[in-house]
Amino acid sequence: MKKVLVTGGTGYIGSHTVVDLLENSYDALIIDNLSRSKIEVIDGIEKTTGKRPSFYAIDLCDKSALEEVFKLEGQIDGIIHFAAYKYVGESVAQPLMYYRNNVEGLLNLLDMVKLYKVKNFVFSSSCSVYGNIDSLPVSETTKLNPAQSPYASTKVVGEMLIEDAKIEIPANFISLRYFNPVGAHTAGFIGENPAVTPSNLVPRITGTAAGKFDKLMIFGNQLPTRDGSCIRDYIHVMDVAEAHTAALKYLSKLNHLHSHEIINVGSGSGVTVLELIAAFEKVTGIEIPKEITTPREGDVIAVYSDTNKSTKLLNWETRKTIEDMMLTAWHWEKSNA
Ligand code: WQD
Repeated sequence: MKKVLVTGGTGYIGSHTVVDLLENSYDALIIDNLSRSKIEVIDGIEKTTGKRPSFYAIDLCDKSALEEVFKLEGQIDGIIHFAAYKYVGESVAQPLMYYRNNVEGLLNLLDMVKLYKVKNFVFSSSCSVYGNIDSLPVSETTKLNPAQSPYASTKVVGEMLIEDAKIEIPANFISLRYFNPVGAHTAGFIGENPAVTPSNLVPRITGTAAGKFDKLMIFGNQLPTRDGSCIRDYIHVMDVAEAHTAALKYLSKLNHLHSHEIINVGSGSGVTVLELIAAFEKVTGIEIPKEITTPREGDVIAVYSDTNKSTKLLNWETRKTIEDMMLTAWHWEKSNA
């Protein structure tokens, strides 16, 4: 497999995945509408790898423009589909925009997969499809509880769409359910660049350390966990990127078609908010001004993944530590200032 199309390739996980693909000698090309990312990310990818991927500034909802790329590029061997809106709060306020962008974009892309005989497709899904968690760790066979946001619902719909369409499309599909991707490539040329003021924990930690925010609000420390704060499965974004390359390698070896595997992408270990903050303070020597407030509406108390399937099927597991995540997140915050 050589030529891989990455939609949303100037985004956070997309750009790190493009780096890993280029470092594994794939011919990676990017489609992105730049609604939530900047064209300069391509420069960051080139500085990191010494290679510059082809780039098309196209919206997946513009089907004729999308088809032009397939006509121009000839045979595309694989697609990794990241392009989607992903802000939980925004999705609650603007569900129609989220369904239009996330679902119509996927529909158009699947039409191209069928028409232009792409054989390998990786879909960017999310652990948020599980909804509120009944038992831990979460495995791919865990029953899905109601999604807690329209964003999460668009990921549930995306997986269902692929599951139903696989019969009609002669290809193989993998949906990867990410837990909490954090950190950045060690080179410091790419990283998380929220288009809006970040609400996720790690950019709030590094932003507070950089003086962008007065203090870090900790949403609850009296919850039923070992130290009273929420538990999450944080995973280094380069480990997430490597999982995508591993997924493409797995797909390219299949000798059948019309399959769809759903696979968790997590570290398998749960870390509390307070533990993550302590890790940041330890590796950077920076004390974070913080304030304990009430729990955040809609937060699940604890979630972390069962990693058996990803280890077995993809022959992949995480390699980076919480300290690597904090150090590279801080390095990026400073270099992106
Ligand atoms: C982590 C923990 C907060 C901010 C996100 C996405 C979700 C999925 C996974 C994409 C929680 C606490 C946070 C702050 C805090 N990603 N927190 N103070 O909520 O697990 O989910 O990643 O698919 O869609 O929303 O991530 O980083 O927002 O929160 O105390 O200022 O940190 O309560 O316990 P979350 P998060």
